[in-house]
Amino acid sequence: MAARLTLPSPLILGIETSCDETAAAVVGRGSDGGPVILSNVVLSQVEEHAAFGGVVPEIAARAHVEALDGIIRAALADAGVCVSDLSAVAATSGPGLVGALIVGAMTGKAIASAAGLPFVAVNHLEGHALTPRLTDAVAYPYLMLLASGGHTQILLVRGLGDYERWGTTIDDALGEAFDKTAKLLSLPHPGGPNVEKRASQGDPARFPLPRPMRGEKRLDFSFSGLKTAVRLAAEGAAPLGENDIADLCAGFQAAAADSVFDRVSRALSRFREEFPGLADPVLAVAGGVAANGAIRAALSRAGAKAGVRLVAPPLVLCTDNGAMIAHAGLERFEAGLLDPYEAPVRPRWPLDEEAAPLVGFGRRGAKA
Ligand code: KG4
Ligand code: ZN
Repeated sequence: MAARLTLPSPLILGIETSCDETAAAVVGRGSDGGPVILSNVVLSQVEEHAAFGGVVPEIAARAHVEALDGIIRAALADAGVCVSDLSAVAATSGPGLVGALIVGAMTGKAIASAAGLPFVAVNHLEGHALTPRLTDAVAYPYLMLLASGGHTQILLVRGLGDYERWGTTIDDALGEAFDKTAKLLSLPHPGGPNVEKRASQGDPARFPLPRPMRGEKRLDFSFSGLKTAVRLAAEGAAPLGENDIADLCAGFQAAAADSVFDRVSRALSRFREEFPGLADPVLAVAGGVAANGAIRAALSRAGAKAGVRLVAPPLVLCTDNGAMIAHAGLERFEAGLLDPYEAPVRPRWPLDEEAAPLVGFGRRGAKA
């Protein structure tokens, strides 16, 4: 990278190892006041886990140990900076797989302590929640849908460290439901994109499937009943031909998108009521499911109906990455929110500590 006369300041190294991506990035505050991504290096472990049909915690931790030093070196080199240029080191400290978290947090603390730098223990969900500020300079407060393989949450982001969870899934996460549907129909991993591909050739109306939680007052999601309905429909149509699979995928995706539209529309009405005077109300999305065209279309429709702008960051910043951790670390560092080198990792770490945990709260492994 070309040499810069002045580096962004403060300048933060961010490390992410909470599940199956080993990631590091350098993010700083630019001279115009906006955040600047100097580098963002992500190594996916998808291949290591593919044979097991899910993330194996021990394999994840070992793969992080093997890859992390090189990923951090690459992030510093891509950014054209040395450790001595940094203002602080931030590392994901939860929620996630305990062994995987320890690798990233310990490495971050070791670099910080060797260089005499402050350490910031970042909540992975806060990394996702603040991403619209990294990509689109969105002002507080805004509403956020986080939809990944491990979480489906509607969050009110009031300010740094100030989150209200308005809804979550009472069983499966949305990405998990896509993955389970794929498995049921013998489609290859990764499930979500494959279901979407097949759905594009199918008839969404052929199999009548439920729209989970539609019309419910509470803002939670549920996808396990839909998954069961897909299984029963598949059993009823067996043996399945290519058209049957396409129709089942289209039916599932349409039902999931309708459910998201209903839940998010309800949340947006509450958001508009609670914050009537906002000049530029925003609904932001993060998580791998944000890649799905039907889900994005449902969110745009919900936003348009409520007079709220949809902010969907580029996919590399919607899925797990180091830049979101460095950026959350940057906001925390600027607010003086530093952590001791002894800060523990927290495999369970809700963003909204006040929200009551839901029974059966959908988590596959600990991916967020
Ligand atoms: O955020 P992410 O990369 O990792 C987690 O933190 O979970 O999200 C992965 C999830 C998987 O469940 C995957 O199937 C889903 O996002 N996904 C999709 C699509 N692309 C990824 N789901 C539906 N349609 C897609 N195109
Ligand atoms: Zn995540």
